[in-house]
Amino acid sequence: MCGIIGCVGRDDETLDVLVHGLSKLEYRGYDSAGVALSGERVDVCKKSGKIEDLREALESRTLGGAAGVGHTRWSTHGPPTDENAHPHLDCNGDVAVVHNGIIENYQELRDELVTAGHTFKSDTDTEVVPHLVEDALADGLDNEAAVRRAIARLEGSYAVAVVVSGDDTIYAARNDSPLVLGLDDDAYYLASDVPAFRDFTDRVIYLADGEFATLSAEGWRVSDVDGDEVDKDVDTVDWDPEETGKSGYDHFMLKEIHEQPRAIRQCLRGRVDELSGEVDIGDLGDLSPTGVQFVACGTSYHAALYGAQLLRDAGIPAQTFLASEYATAPPPIGDALVVGVTQSGETADTLSALREARKRGARTMAVTNTVGSTAARECDHALYIRAGPEIGVAASKTFASQLAALNLFSLGTTRIDGAREIIGALRDLPSNIQAILDDSNAESVADTYVDSDAYFFIGRGHQYPVALEGALKMKEITYKHAEGFAAGELKHGPLALVTEDTPVFAVVTGDGEMARKTIGNVKEVEARDAPVVAVTDGQSDVERYADEVLEVPETHPQAAAVLANVQLQLVSYYVADKLGRSIDKPRNLAKSVTVE
Ligand code: M6R
Repeated sequence: MCGIIGCVGRDDETLDVLVHGLSKLEYRGYDSAGVALSGERVDVCKKSGKIEDLREALESRTLGGAAGVGHTRWSTHGPPTDENAHPHLDCNGDVAVVHNGIIENYQELRDELVTAGHTFKSDTDTEVVPHLVEDALADGLDNEAAVRRAIARLEGSYAVAVVVSGDDTIYAARNDSPLVLGLDDDAYYLASDVPAFRDFTDRVIYLADGEFATLSAEGWRVSDVDGDEVDKDVDTVDWDPEETGKSGYDHFMLKEIHEQPRAIRQCLRGRVDELSGEVDIGDLGDLSPTGVQFVACGTSYHAALYGAQLLRDAGIPAQTFLASEYATAPPPIGDALVVGVTQSGETADTLSALREARKRGARTMAVTNTVGSTAARECDHALYIRAGPEIGVAASKTFASQLAALNLFSLGTTRIDGAREIIGALRDLPSNIQAILDDSNAESVADTYVDSDAYFFIGRGHQYPVALEGALKMKEITYKHAEGFAAGELKHGPLALVTEDTPVFAVVTGDGEMARKTIGNVKEVEARDAPVVAVTDGQSDVERYADEVLEVPETHPQAAAVLANVQLQLVSYYVADKLGRSIDKPRNLAKSVTVE
């Protein structure tokens, strides 16, 4: 998704800071990039393609100015061309605007502006903003008032940042799209996401919907729609800038897969009593929901499926909905809790489902990685998964941390038989994951099956969401066809697709009825000559029917899901690597999907 960076107070370094910030936002996914600096005039440089293309274009330009904004664009209105890249200008070239989100009434505004004589150069919704500011300036308003008047005309979602010729100020506003300010001693930053300026400061202010910010070398101010000053808390970011580097790994994704032991330790720290082994999740433990509805998308949806199962195991009615389909869900009953599982806390579909839940009178909770995110701020409660920054577009460590956090939630809010055993297994997760990372044969499995036509993943119970996640990871980063199924469903249709060129990854842990039945399904695919890769803890005899085995340490089935997933992450990673894919930034995908 699009990214924004802004900077004032760095004098001659403004351009370098902006380009550095853009490179830190690359992980969000983009197809063009640009910058605007405001000196005596506003200067713009923008290019379709990568930041490298922008850097190259900048080599032949001299852009100067004390205030600047930059943008990475992920196309929504119009293809990724130089003209459609941000920043966008008004007719006079005095007002430059970068924008994330979607302006829903742009066509109406554009028609009105064209009739009034404005000339548009792009296909974007964003371009209406500089022209609206231009009109307000022509009516004699000062810069801030002109930007405010333009913003007031917009409907839809936006994080907008504006610079104007001859003014060393950035004007910014948000509605349904994140914006965060960074404060240093004599410089100020603005971004859609903290990593953009984390190398320069750890002091941040999260803007709320309807707020307006002005940043100049003299200071910052946040106000509401009426212009009245708003008191804002200054937060400190608790992760190190180094965490957003690759630390010697070829890809962020591989680094993040290897960070899972640490991520789980952070998630459990202070929440599992070292002596008693009991779970303490503070006030969240008192929520006592009579029922839970989960809403989420993508990988987080798979974590939510798993979380709902944990609660059902504990006797609490729980259902999972794709956030984008929540409109069709039954109303939450009684004292129900609606839980949005969202790594970023900014996924538009999930936010919209949570808002709908609030309208229906439900209490809401965000399970998120991002302190200060919209989900965390808008929900009544937040359970942080504490995975640290995840830069690879494909979620890896955050999925593991979501599963761990959802275990803590179910243990902390319910009485579960065998809780002690589960807690022990959670505590063993970091060392068990490390054992897999140290000794996995996933690369050789990837080597064997890299040329396959398609990949299928099956599992039952707690391993069903893992099968779905295994397939999602494979398709996201390898661009190959992959599907995950509840093991029992295979014979109801998908079996028609199974051939000797379609390896089936079967997640089989434990030796109970689930394992026995999944082995039955494994035999069905084996009989159709499909290669079988068993992901197993060795408790059952699935190995007898498998061509390859990916081992995981023996543990509680709930924890086994996290372990099995690590092996599947590694297989997808190595297949993608062998195919030379863009692993950290897969085509067409974005880290944080801020449009519905
Ligand atoms: O930030 P969220 O967890 O709300 O994101 C939800 C999905 O967009 C996300 O999980 C997506 O499926 C990832 N690309 C998964 O790798």
